[in-house]
Amino acid sequence: MLHQRGNLIVVSNRLPVVLSHETDGWHVEPGSGGLVTALAPVLRDRGGTWIGWPGTSADGDIESALTSLAGKIGYSLVPVRLTPNETAKYYEGFSNEIIWPLFHDMQSLCNFDPSYWNVYRDVNRKFAEVVMRTVGNDDFVWLHDYHLMLTAKYMREMGFKGKIGFFLHIPFPPLDMFLRLPWRAEILTALTECDLVGFQTMRDRRNFVHCLRAILGGANYCGRGQVCGLTTEHREFRIGAFPISIDFGYFSEKAHSDEVAECAWQIHANLPDRQIVLGVDRLDYSKGILHRLDAFKRLLARRPELQNHVSLVQIIVPSRRGIPEYGALKTRIERAVGEINGRFTQLTGWIPVHYIYRSLEQTELIAYYRTAEIALITPLKDGMNLVAKEYCAANSEESGVLILSEFAGAAAELGKAALLVNPHDVVGVAEALHTALSMPLEERRRRMGSMRQIVRRHDVFWWVDTFLRAAFAKDLSNFPVIAELPT
Ligand code: UDP
Ligand code: G6P
Repeated sequence: MLHQRGNLIVVSNRLPVVLSHETDGWHVEPGSGGLVTALAPVLRDRGGTWIGWPGTSADGDIESALTSLAGKIGYSLVPVRLTPNETAKYYEGFSNEIIWPLFHDMQSLCNFDPSYWNVYRDVNRKFAEVVMRTVGNDDFVWLHDYHLMLTAKYMREMGFKGKIGFFLHIPFPPLDMFLRLPWRAEILTALTECDLVGFQTMRDRRNFVHCLRAILGGANYCGRGQVCGLTTEHREFRIGAFPISIDFGYFSEKAHSDEVAECAWQIHANLPDRQIVLGVDRLDYSKGILHRLDAFKRLLARRPELQNHVSLVQIIVPSRRGIPEYGALKTRIERAVGEINGRFTQLTGWIPVHYIYRSLEQTELIAYYRTAEIALITPLKDGMNLVAKEYCAANSEESGVLILSEFAGAAAELGKAALLVNPHDVVGVAEALHTALSMPLEERRRRMGSMRQIVRRHDVFWWVDTFLRAAFAKDLSNFPVIAELPT
């Protein structure tokens, strides 16, 4: 139960599972990415309904496959079916060739194809129709992420009077970047149809307000703190900063399980007598993987005494395979890994970069978190970066070092105890690696202990509670500025 009566209806582009149809029936795989990792435990905990695209255009009885799955996971799954043209233009096109690069400050990668916009509108309307068929008046509809920025507007047009929340998982760009979007006014106006619009950081929230003022005019704050009211000519609604998080308890306990310990032992045995530096990313140009490889190469070249004593394990999860830019990035990364290994690999059997290109089972991923002395998380820009928080949660010996990009949302919370770096500064990143590799155990413990405390206190259940309180509270004066959020 959400409040007295209603249920929680989560709506996101993707369901937490990807269905595929094989000759022996439907196959279900877990979805990847931070949104799914964060929301799955929330719905497991509270129950409710998750509406989204099942990741396939195949015809057939998807509903019964999802219903039988719902019995196991404890909440309902409602599919929004997309045609191949819709997937190409709404998901790959508008969402991932316009909004994703623009909101990550990479305007040169945008393809402002006008036909993408039309299909984006149609698909947002389609999502609204499915929500309207599912929702009751007392339910809370919680829309997620940049794929669904128009859905609230269509729901209002269809007569929905209940509460709608929206949470943006990616950064909200500064005004000069957002202004380039040809459909900027329509998108902002549609967002104001929500009762609460949430962002990862105060900086994202501030960027949103600057854009509202410049493009739609007005927008006066009402109240101060993490959540406040905003009055525009058109509507009154709330905005807030809610740094998303993880199920800390799960990661921290799982890190102690026998199967993780066994897997960690195997990783150690295969990479003996060296410190492991770990990178874990979806294949994405926003993650700064090429810059990171450059920094690691520089470290090995400038400090030859580290050769044989440090290896980078870089895990890359395949993502958005239909988009050309992603395929090109894979080729560039593989060339860069090949160059480093070709130049530095030695007779001793030491290989500098261990490259894994696939999605890992959670046991294996957590074993890598436990084994790695250093996590090297250097996105050029990232809404939050949950891998950083998962690394801390799994690090119960409190001896790992987190090197973190100052452009990841997570830096707002963890920045005091992590080693913060500018990912564009390969010299600085190489130096941070050297500092981390030689950091005394006592300092590692102090830093990791403090990061774990923050993630433990602000876990994903805190995140969802805070968002729902902000949506339903009569009085916002209970929302102080969180110390870890930058003002
Ligand atoms: N992840 C995964 N499979 C893997 C490696 C990572 O499912 O093989 C998960 C990881 O646990 C994390 C998410 O993918 O929860 C990545 O989230 P993050 O916020 O770091 O980045 P995003 O992919 O959302 O941009
Ligand atoms: C980011 C986005 C999510 C998205 C995820 C994976 O975390 O904020 O909305 O689901 O990446 O990307 P994909 O395109 O595979 O859903």
